[in-house]
Order: sequence, then C-alpha cells, then structure tokens
Amino acid sequence: MASNSGNAKKQAFVGTFVHSKKLDELEYLHDTVVCVDPSGKIVAVERECDAKKAEQILFAKLGWDAADVQVHVCKEGQFFFPGFIDTHIHASQYPNVGIFGKSTLLDWLNTYTFPMEASLSSLSKARRVYTRCIRRTLAHGTTTAAYYATISVPSTSLLADLCLSLGQRAFVGRVCMDRLGPSYYLDESPEAALSATKASIEHIRSIDPNYDLITPILTPRFAPSCTADTMKRLGALQAETGLPVQTHISENVNEITLVRDLFPDSEHYAGVYDDCGLLTPKTILSHAIHLSEDEAELITARGSKVAHCPCSNSAITSGEARVRWLLDKGIGVGLGTDMSGGYSPSILEAARLACLVSRHLAMGDGKGGAADAATMMVQQVSAEERERAKLSVEEVLYLATKGGAAVVGLEGKVGGFEVGMEWDAQLVGLGVVGEVAEGKGVDQVEGEDEGNVDLFGWESWEDRVAKWLFNGDDRNTKRVWVRGRLVHSRV
Ligand code: GUN
Ligand code: FE
Repeated sequence: MASNSGNAKKQAFVGTFVHSKKLDELEYLHDTVVCVDPSGKIVAVERECDAKKAEQILFAKLGWDAADVQVHVCKEGQFFFPGFIDTHIHASQYPNVGIFGKSTLLDWLNTYTFPMEASLSSLSKARRVYTRCIRRTLAHGTTTAAYYATISVPSTSLLADLCLSLGQRAFVGRVCMDRLGPSYYLDESPEAALSATKASIEHIRSIDPNYDLITPILTPRFAPSCTADTMKRLGALQAETGLPVQTHISENVNEITLVRDLFPDSEHYAGVYDDCGLLTPKTILSHAIHLSEDEAELITARGSKVAHCPCSNSAITSGEARVRWLLDKGIGVGLGTDMSGGYSPSILEAARLACLVSRHLAMGDGKGGAADAATMMVQQVSAEERERAKLSVEEVLYLATKGGAAVVGLEGKVGGFEVGMEWDAQLVGLGVVGEVAEGKGVDQVEGEDEGNVDLFGWESWEDRVAKWLFNGDDRNTKRVWVRGRLVHSRV
C-alpha cells in the first residue's frame, strides 16, 4: 500500500495567498512566504517577504538549511488558495454525471443511481470509476471529499485505498440501506448493515490507523431506505466510536411525505434522525431544502451541519435551499457537488451555483417554495429578507473552504493559511492578456491554456477572484497539494 507520508521535504511558497478570514471577508496576503514542514504543516506565514529574504532570514529562524528547501514562486496572474472541501459527493455515481433527464429524486434513484452503484461490486469497474473520480476532483482543487461509496465492503475499501494512494483527504462511507431499494442492492438485515459498516471501518483503520488522511464515516443513505433498527444501531455505533455521520435530509417533497408515512411516531424528518441518535455535532445533512423552523432549531441545538448542493438541487428539481436562513440559525454550512445528482465534479461550479440559486431565492418568494410544516402554506417574506438571501463571492468561497472544513470536523486543520494548519492548497492561474501588436493576435503569458479567465491588468484582486469564480474551471487549477504532497499538476 502506498502511503501518504507527506512531501518529505521542506517547502516554501512565495507570492499572493487568498483565503477566508470570515464568512464575508477574504484576506489577501501579498508578498508573503508560507513555509511547510515535511509533515505537511504550515510552520511560518511571513508577510512582506520574498524568496530572497526567506533564504536570508526566515529559513534560519526555522533552523532550516536553504539547500533543503523546495521553493515555489507564483507567476503573474497566479495566487494560492485553500483546497476545496466537497462535503457531499457520491464517488460511485461518477459515470452518471450529466445523465438525469427530467427525473426527480425518487425515480432518479431507481432509474440511474441504484443500477450504477450495484454494478460497482465489480472491483475492476470500481477501480476505473474511483480512480477517475479522485483524479478528476483533485484536478478541480478538491483536497477533501466526504464520499458515499456503495453497499459493497470490498468496493468501499478500494475507494479508501485509492484516496490514500492518490493523496486525497477523504471521509469514506459504506452505504447502509435495508429497505426501499431494488432486491439486488439492499442490506439483508440491520445486523448485516452493521457488520458490513464495522468491516469497512476496520479496513480503513488498517491502512490509516490514526485517520490522518482517510476517516470512515457512518452512512445511513436516508431515512426512507433505512429501517429504524438499522439507524438506531448506527446511532449507537456513533456514540461508541465518535465517528462522523452523513445522510440526506429534506431534499424532495415526495421524499418528505414518504418519511412521514414510514415514521408516523417521529415529529418530523429531522426528528427521525434524532430519535435514532443520528443528529450529532459530527453529522453532515445533505440538502436541507424544505426544513421547518422546528427542524432547523433542532438541528441547531444538536450542532449538526448542512451540505448545500445547489447543482444537484437544480438539476433534479429538488428546490432552493435557504442558506442565509440556515446560517442565521447558527447552522454550519458547506458546499457539496452531490455528484451525480449534481452534474459537475467541481466545487467552483457549486460555489457559483450557490450564488445564482441565492439570487433565484431573492427573485422568488424568498423561501424557494418551502412550505411551513404546520400549514403547508408558503409564507411570504419581506423584500429586505429576500435581498439578504443573496450570497456574495466571498461568502460562497468561505462555504467552499473554511465553512466546509467546519462541516467535516476539520476546522482549524484545513481551509486556510495559518500556522499549525496543514498545507491543503491549490495554485490558481488566470490568463494575463498581453499587448497586441498591430495586425497580430492576443497571446497569453507563456502560451499556457488559461481557460476562460482573461485579465487585462486593471482588475483589483477582488475583481480577479470574482472572474475566477464565475468563469474559472480546472484549467485554472495549476497545482494541488494535500498535507504538503503535490497531488495534481498541470504545469
Ligand atoms: N437520497 C438518497 N440517496 C441519494 C443520492 O444518492 N443522491 C441524492 N441526491 N439524494 C439521495
Ligand atoms: Fe447525495
């Protein structure tokens, strides 16, 4: 098994660093040097510094010999940004991206999703799919992913092995579902779901004993496909192990009706999970579109978090999650691609869609059609409140990095450039349009393929980041590191 032992070198990164200071504020650190030790930890962030000064003063302060340090310097149009956190992604659905027709959640699951996931019990197919999924998401700057695999333990273990060897930080969940799936893709009993979950945890412990890079995550698919017995056993396992949990909640109106029918004794959808011990501070709830006030208050009280998946919510017409409302309640929110409910493996795409969906909320009733649980009436909200629904560039980039880190329990460890944090980062490069000689075309710096983002030189740093958010793609993600290890490079 290949190990992720970090880069095993001392490294210094030189240039401009952009990261979130708080929800609505990005910090721009120019002429800065960030030093990363061989374990992948940031050991110095020095302002007003360059490569030369670092060699003369900073390395000595750290007791480093300049000859041992690998130095990376930003070029014009480039900056370092924290790696993205995908708080909700189904690795096993990667082959289906873009294929959803006009389906909605429940028919989408039966038509596209369950057959694809079941087919990954073939390990050769799983290897192809998972390898491509990890490489593709790394290429889009995703340094941490909270993955759903499938119900197959060997196939889930393979996903964990591949994340470790390719160097992506990951939470890997073996999916539990013991009802309402096709007969060929179901756990046989609650006991079987639990013992398979434990086998998956054991495997991850055997390859990464301290969960430095890969962590198991308890994964009841969602309430409609799990019996209360299975969910209660998983809740007990969570209490015993302290492991994180991921599931779906309140994504689709028909799903909510189904939950009401299946769990008549629970107060509401969030109550079902709470009754099973699954609403914990380590729980990631995906979607959370149609929650009632009571449910949001319960989630706040339990400290559970939300993965906002605007691409998926739009593609399979689930609704518009009220991110501002969730944040106002004190609920931690991150972004998820929810591939392949979402058609894109890119968190940058999720971030720009989060911007757009928030504007749709502002243009509509402000609640995305979500009905009040008691009356089933859509409550009108004030024009002011609708305006507040809009998310800024700064806010969605916070959700993509620091916000996501808090959702997956890695707050203070990844998501920013501070001493003590790990170097999970991406080098972003934007096109710089050169002078045009008369009668000649426009050439970009060094002829690299810079994608759709053109800088003309007058843009402020805020403008540059906004241009990247709305027109950037993986061509702008030049290099990616996890725990100091280079895991993707286009240059
Ligand atoms: N609810 C239960 N399973 C799934 C899934 O695979 N994707 C989405 N988007 N919602 C779900
Ligand atoms: Fe999902």
